[in-house]
Amino acid sequence: MTAGLVGKTALITGAGRGIGAAIASGLAKAGAGVILLARTADQLDETANAIRASGSCVEVHVMTVDLTDDTQRATAIDDLLSGGPIDVLINNAATVEPLGASATIGLKQLRQAFEINVIAPAALTAALAPGMAKAGWGRIVNVSSSVVGHPGSMIGGNAYAATKAALEVHSRNLAAELDGTGVTVNVYRPGGVDTAMQGWIRSQDPQRIGAGLHHRFLSRYDSGGLITPQESANALLSHLLGEDGDRTGAIWDLGDTVST
Ligand SMILES: NC(=O)c1ccc[n+]([C@@H]2O[C@H](COP(=O)([O-])OP(=O)(O)OC[C@H]3O[C@@H](n4cnc5c(N)ncnc54)[C@H](OP(=O)(O)O)[C@@H]3O)[C@@H](O)[C@H]2O)c1
Repeated sequence: MTAGLVGKTALITGAGRGIGAAIASGLAKAGAGVILLARTADQLDETANAIRASGSCVEVHVMTVDLTDDTQRATAIDDLLSGGPIDVLINNAATVEPLGASATIGLKQLRQAFEINVIAPAALTAALAPGMAKAGWGRIVNVSSSVVGHPGSMIGGNAYAATKAALEVHSRNLAAELDGTGVTVNVYRPGGVDTAMQGWIRSQDPQRIGAGLHHRFLSRYDSGGLITPQESANALLSHLLGEDGDRTGAIWDLGDTVST
C-alpha cells in the first residue's frame, strides 16, 4: 500500500464500469477512501462490492447522479462539500455521443456532450479545488483521449474531439493557475480500452456514424488491439503514485491514433 494515499478520499466519476471502476479499485487498493459516482445504481453497487470483497479496508460510498442535470449536480456538490475533505478528483465520466457527420448533429446533442465532458468536470473542480488548496494538497485528473493529439483521426467524432480538447486546455490552464498550491492537475489519455463505450460504437449503424469510423473501431477490437480497464488504470496509478506524483500540467498518454 502506498503511504501517499492512506487516509485520503477520492471522488471518481463514471465509476460504475470500465476505466472509472478500475481506477476506483486501484485507488482503494492504494489506501484511499472512494466515492463512486455515476447514474446507474446497480453498476455503482457492483464496483463498491468488488472493492469491499477485495479486502480493501477503506470507506466506500456511492452517489447516483446525472452530471448533466444542473439540479442533481448542484445537490451532489452540496453533499460533497458537507462531507469530509476530498483530496483526489478523477473526472472520468464522459460520453462519446453524438457520432456522425457534423451537419447531422443537433445543438441539443452537442450541448449535452459539452455538459458531461467539459462543464461537469469544471463544476466539480470549482467546488472541490479550493478545499484541496486550503489543505495544501490535492490531485485532479481529467480523463481525455488521444484524439486531441490527432484531431483528424476520428472523422464522425467531432463533438467528442472538441470536448476533449476543451477539457485538456481547461486542465493545463488550471494547472498553471494552481501551481504552488499543492494541488496538481493532469490529463490522462487512457489508450484504446475494452469498455462499454467501445462496444457501443461497434454496435452503431455504420451508415449513421460513418463507415470509416465504424470500421476502425471494429478492426481494432477484432485484432485484439484494446487493453483492459485494469491495465489502463494501472498506468494512471503508476503516474499518480510514482515519480510523476507531484507533476502538474502533464498529459499522460497511453493511447494512439485510433483510441477514443
Ligand atoms: N474506452 C476507450 O477506449 C477510451 C479511450 C479514450 C478515452 N476514454 C475516456 O475514458 C473515460 C471512461 O471511458 P469508458 O470507456 O470507461 O466509458 P464507459 O464504459 O461508457 O463508462 C463511462 C462512465 O461514465 C458514466 N457516465 C456517463 N454519463 C454520465 C452522466 N451524465 N452522469 C454521471 N455519470 C455518467 C457512466 O455511467 P452511467 O451511464 O451509469 O451514468 C459510466 O460509469 C471517458 O472519459 C472516455 O472518454 C475511453
